[in-house]
Amino acid sequence: MNISKWLAVPVLAAGLFTPSRTDAQQKNEIVIRANTPVAEVQPTMWGIFFEDINLGADGGIYAELVKNRSFEFNEPMMGWKVRQSTFHEGSVLVLNRKEETPANPRYLRVTRQEAADTLGISNEGFRGMGIKKGLRYDFSMMYRLPAAGVRLRIELVSSGGQVIGSTTLAPAVTPGQEWRRAAVSFNATDSTLKGRLNIWFEGSGVIDMDIVSLFPTDTWKGRPGGMRADMIQMLADMKPGFIRFPGGCIVEGHDLALRYQWKKTLGALEDRQLIVNRWNYEFAHRPTPDYFQTFGLGFYEYFQLAEDIGASPLPILNCGMACQFNTAEVVALDELDPYVQDALDLIEFANGDVNTKWGKVRADLGHPAPFHLKMMGIGNENWGPQYIERLKVFTKAIKEKYPDIRLVNSSGTDPNGDRYEYLNKELRGMHADIIDEHYYRQPEWFLQNARRYDSFPRNASKIFAGEYAAQSDHTVSVKNQNNWQTALSEAAFMTGLERNADVVAMASYAPLFAHVDGWQWTPDLIWVDNLRVNGTPNYYVQKLFSVNKGTNVVPALRNNKTLAGEDSLYASAVIDQAAGELIVKMVNVSATAQTVQLRIEGIKKLSGSATLTVLQSPALEAVNRLGEAAVVRPADKEVAVKGGKVNVDAGPYSFTVFKVRMGETPSGRISGAK
Ligand code: AHR
Repeated sequence: MNISKWLAVPVLAAGLFTPSRTDAQQKNEIVIRANTPVAEVQPTMWGIFFEDINLGADGGIYAELVKNRSFEFNEPMMGWKVRQSTFHEGSVLVLNRKEETPANPRYLRVTRQEAADTLGISNEGFRGMGIKKGLRYDFSMMYRLPAAGVRLRIELVSSGGQVIGSTTLAPAVTPGQEWRRAAVSFNATDSTLKGRLNIWFEGSGVIDMDIVSLFPTDTWKGRPGGMRADMIQMLADMKPGFIRFPGGCIVEGHDLALRYQWKKTLGALEDRQLIVNRWNYEFAHRPTPDYFQTFGLGFYEYFQLAEDIGASPLPILNCGMACQFNTAEVVALDELDPYVQDALDLIEFANGDVNTKWGKVRADLGHPAPFHLKMMGIGNENWGPQYIERLKVFTKAIKEKYPDIRLVNSSGTDPNGDRYEYLNKELRGMHADIIDEHYYRQPEWFLQNARRYDSFPRNASKIFAGEYAAQSDHTVSVKNQNNWQTALSEAAFMTGLERNADVVAMASYAPLFAHVDGWQWTPDLIWVDNLRVNGTPNYYVQKLFSVNKGTNVVPALRNNKTLAGEDSLYASAVIDQAAGELIVKMVNVSATAQTVQLRIEGIKKLSGSATLTVLQSPALEAVNRLGEAAVVRPADKEVAVKGGKVNVDAGPYSFTVFKVRMGETPSGRISGAK
C-alpha cells in the first residue's frame, strides 16, 4: 500500500489542510481548555454490538458444549454419530411428536437389544469441545424410559482419542410417558481444544432422550447453563455504556417467519423453538450448515448480561420487515399490530411492575427488579418508504404509552447514497430520537470522515454509530484483517465522534465476536477458539475510548482549530467530573514521530505526574494472534506535567491517551459541572 497516499488523502479531502507553519513548536502545540466543557458525553457513548454471527452465541458466549442438543437441526443427527459394534435396525431412532410439543418435536429413542453389543452416540461440539483439566462439567438431559434397564456411561474424549473424564448415570424409572431431567457432574482429567462427548448405553431397555447438554461450571458468575466467562470478561473490561442485541440482520430474518421473536426466547429450554441462523447460508463462500439459533441465550439472559456488565440494554426489534438483501418480505400494514405489541410488551417485560403481565414473567424468571430499559431500536438495516410507514406506527404506539423510551431508527446500510439521504430526511422530519448509522468502509474513509459530525445539526436527532469497522480489503471480503491500520483509522475517526458528543450519543464496533473455525464475517473485534480469547488491535482502541469516556468534551485546539487529520494528527479531549481527570486522546497516522506539546489551560497549578497509555506498532499490517502475546496492546508510562505543559511523543502510527488528575480550576470547580 502507498502509505503517503493513505496519509495525505484525509487532510486534503477534509479541505482543512493549512500550509505548515515555520514555528515547529507552535505548530505542534495543542491547547486544551480544561475548564470549558462544550458538550456532555453520554454515559452510553461507547458500547457493544452483539449478534449471533460467527458463532457468537451458540458455539460462542453461550457455554453449551453440545451441538444440536435437541435434534432439531434440519438434519436431526447433525453433530451426532451413532457408534455401534453390530448394526441393529432401529436401535437409534429420531422420533417426532409435533402435535404434542410443536416447539421441540424431535427426540432420540435408543433401544439396546443385545447386552453384548457396544452402542453409543457421540457429539462433536461446535468445532470440537474445549475441555479444561480439573474443571467440573455438568451433563444433563430430558429423558423417559419406555422400557427401563439402560444405564449411561458418559465420557469426555480428547482430540487424540483419550478419555479425559467419565461418569455413569442410571436414570431413575419414569412413570408412564412423563419426561424427567437427569443430571450428573464430573471432572475432566486433562485439557483439549477439540474434544467430544461420548454417551455409551449399557444394560438393556429403551430410553428416550432430548436436550442433551454439557456445560462447564466456570461460567460467567458461575451460573449453571450460563455464558463463557472469558468472553464476557472481555466485554466487562470495556466498561461498555450499552449493549445492543440481538443484532444485526438476525433481527430481520431471511423471511418474516425466521425473524427474531423475543417472546420465544424465554423460559424452559424445551419451549424455546430453534430456528436456522441466517448466517448459516448467507454467504455461499462461508457456508455454515450447522448454524442454528437455539435461543438458550434469550432476551432474559441478554438483559441480565447488560445488568452484569453495567451496560444500558438496547434491544433491536423487527419492524415488520424481513432482510431486504434476502426476501424483503414485509408484513401488511393492517397486520402490523402483533409486531407493535411485541415492542410494547418488551418494555413492560423489562420495566413493568411485577403485577403487570410481562413484569410478572420477568419476576417469575428470577428478576423482580426492573431492567431499566431506556431505549429500543425499531428495525435493523431497513430502508425505503415501507420502513418509514411501519416505523411511524411503532413510534406513535410506543410514544403514546411510554414517552420516555428513546427510539433508535435505521438509516439503512450505508452512510451516504440515495437510501441514506431519503431516510435521513424522513427521520429528521419525524424528529427521530436517535438515528443508527452503519459504516463498513476502508481505513481511508475513516480518516476522511473524522469531521463527519462537525457539521451535523446540534439540537436535533442524535446519532448512534451503530455498526462500524474499517475493512482492510472490502466489505464481506474474507481477506479483511483486524490489523493495526484498521484500528488506527478507527481511533482517528473516534476522536471525531468524541469531539461531537453533543451529536453522537452512542457508538459500537461490529461485529463483536468470531470463532476462528466458524466465522462468516471478518473483521471482528474479538476472536476466540474453544478455550481462548484474543483482543484485536481494534479491541484495544475501543476499550481505551470506553474506559476513558469522561463526562464532558473540552476543546483540544491547534492554531485555534480542532485537529482532525492536519499533519496526520487527530485529537480530542474530555474531562471526567466524577474522577477529577483530564483525558486527551491523540492519534498520529504518519510514519514519523511527532512531539506534541499539550498546553492545559484552566487548571490552577497543574504540575506533577500524568499517565500516557500508548497503543502503537511500526507495522500497519500488525495483527494480534490467538495463543500468542498481543503485539499491539496498550503500554503505560508516566510523564511529568510542569506548569500545565507536557511534551508527548506521538510515535509513528500511534494512539496515545494522556490522563492527568486535575487540580482546581480558577473558579474552584470545572465550569459547566452539574
Ligand atoms: O455486523 C454484520 C452485519 O452487518 C449485521 O448483521 C448487519 O446489520 C450489517 O449488515
